[in-house]
Parts: sequence; structure tokens; C-alpha cells
Amino acid sequence: MKNAQQYKNLTIGEFTKAADTYESNYTGIYEMCKEDYPHVEEEHSKIQYHDLLDYGCGTGPMNSILHEKDSTKHYVGLDPTPKMIEVASAKNLEGVDWAVGDCENLPFEDETFDVIICINIFRHYPNPQN
Ligand SMILES: C[S@@+](CC[C@H](N)C(=O)[O-])C[C@H]1O[C@@H](n2cnc3c(N)ncnc32)[C@H](O)[C@@H]1O
Repeated sequence: MKNAQQYKNLTIGEFTKAADTYESNYTGIYEMCKEDYPHVEEEHSKIQYHDLLDYGCGTGPMNSILHEKDSTKHYVGLDPTPKMIEVASAKNLEGVDWAVGDCENLPFEDETFDVIICINIFRHYPNPQN
């Protein structure tokens, strides 16, 4: 039985390998994730917000889509896999910030965000019930 940190390290190892080709559909995971993006986008078009956090953002496809629609808002992407954040940062999207971190230990003050989204990451938590 692996402990939580060992489990997280395995997850980070797998997503490090996937990062460079993630949005080319090579991994197959992105193909599944992107089915959710139109639904997330539609929900966001109905609400007022300024600061949004996408945790478990991967290479940041959802923040990229939202930024393209409305670049006046502040988007932040957080992911524990440094390589995913490296690929996301290389998009150089103005007004979008990226950070390496774990959603079980968010490196932000309370009330920093109006909206928090996470797409297809629960199954990667060692303790999803928390
Ligand atoms: C299937 S990808 C989904 C990426 C993105 N949400 C998307 O829609 O394309 C799962 C992501 O969850 C991240 N992840 C795994 N465990 C996490 C945790 N404890 N906190 C935040 N992100 C995590 C992985 O590094 C990976 O980038």
C-alpha cells in the first residue's frame, strides 16, 4: 500500500511524461478532458467573476479558452506537476498566472478567488474523500 506522498509522486511522474504531448491528444487523456470544456465555458458565461483558479490545470487548456473569450479577467492555473506548468507558462498568456502546487495544500489566501474549477483530477487524489 502506498502512502499519499508516494501516490502523488507517481502521479507527477506520469504527467511529467505526458506534458509535452498532452494537448496533441497523443496521451488520449486530453481527448477525454476536452469534452468538458464547452460545458465549463457555458457555465462561466452565466456568472460574474474576476479571479478564477483552475486547480489541476495541466497544461492550461481551460484557462487558455477562457482567456481567449475574455482577457480582462485574472486566471490562475495550479498543478503539482512542474512540467505541466512549464508547458502552460510557455503559452505566455497575458493576465494568466501559473503555479506549481497541490490542491490539498493551496498556496493562496482564503477568498483569493471568485471561482475555482477542476476538470478531471479527482481520481488522482490520494484522499478524494477529503
Ligand atoms: C487528466 S489531467 C487534467 C488536466 C486539466 N484539468 C485538463 O482539463 O486538461 C490531471 C491533472 O491533475 C493534476 N493533479 C494530480 N494530482 C493533483 C493534486 N493533488 N492537486 C492538483 N492537481 C493534481 C496532474 O498533475 C494533471 O496535470
